[in-house]
Amino acid sequence: MKGIILAGGSGTRLYPATVAVSKQLLPVYDKPLVYYPLSVLMLAGVRDILLVSTPHDLPLFRRLLGDGAQWGVRLSYAEQDKPRGIAHALVLAEGFLAGGPSALILGDNVFFGNDLDLRLAEGRRTAEGATVFAYRVADAERYGVVEFDGAGRALSLEEKPRAPRSDWAVTGLYFYDREAPAIARSLAPSARGELEITDLNRIYLERGTLRVTQLGRGYAWLDTGTHDSLLEAGEFVRAIEKRTGQKVAAPEEVAWRMGFISDAELLAASAPLRSSGYGRYLERLIQHRAP
Ligand code: TTP
Repeated sequence: MKGIILAGGSGTRLYPATVAVSKQLLPVYDKPLVYYPLSVLMLAGVRDILLVSTPHDLPLFRRLLGDGAQWGVRLSYAEQDKPRGIAHALVLAEGFLAGGPSALILGDNVFFGNDLDLRLAEGRRTAEGATVFAYRVADAERYGVVEFDGAGRALSLEEKPRAPRSDWAVTGLYFYDREAPAIARSLAPSARGELEITDLNRIYLERGTLRVTQLGRGYAWLDTGTHDSLLEAGEFVRAIEKRTGQKVAAPEEVAWRMGFISDAELLAASAPLRSSGYGRYLERLIQHRAP
């Protein structure tokens, strides 16, 4: 399965912080925001990843992430000339996916929780249809909202409804079968001129092949689209890292634990990062071989 990170958009809700630099390059505590979704894809075992961003920001992502070899993954890049919607990424990625299934993640989404790897493994098994995740939020009207029946089956999907039928928001992580690019191409742009991911998911729902997995309150799904939510995500990561002494979403660590890179490669990746403490953390992983 190949992966797509959608890291374009305009980030207008974070102006002026994002006038010169993309939201996904801003720090969430100790690392760039894009490290978080990248680590999620790597945890899902996805090693061939396309990053989509604006013509202006793409060179900066290349500078930060390179070709991915340092983390045992293959990164490639595609330009989205303007924000044409989340589902548009699948159209852009059609050649890259070459008729195979995909994992799409939004470049500004932070996921954290015990057993996340098991949920990701469920998604990865998506050979037919689509798997998405729902999370309870206090402000569902800002998201795609899923309504469930008594047996936990999805009944309806609505994008930013004025009166949400539930408080379950669809998160920014989607697993699709090979059909997704063709379905995305068939969508008409919405009133805001975008190919809407909720419209694409609704087609899977109508076909009876959409699985919606509920992520319970033991997980954190954090939004970073506003000044407050970006700062809160940083505070959350800082609290967890200080308490546990472990890093959230360090791609070097994920790569090493997943067996994508060797001890020697982890040490090579740590060396330039020593003065921030991040590199020393990575070196200690080998010394302590923490389980
Ligand atoms: P949004 O938060 O919906 O949009 P945005 O980032 O442009 O922000 P704002 O509303 O403040 O202007 O985007 C969700 C994620 O998807 C984010 O990582 C940006 C990305 N995205 C694209 O890469 N291309 C797109 O066409 C859209 C709509 C979003």
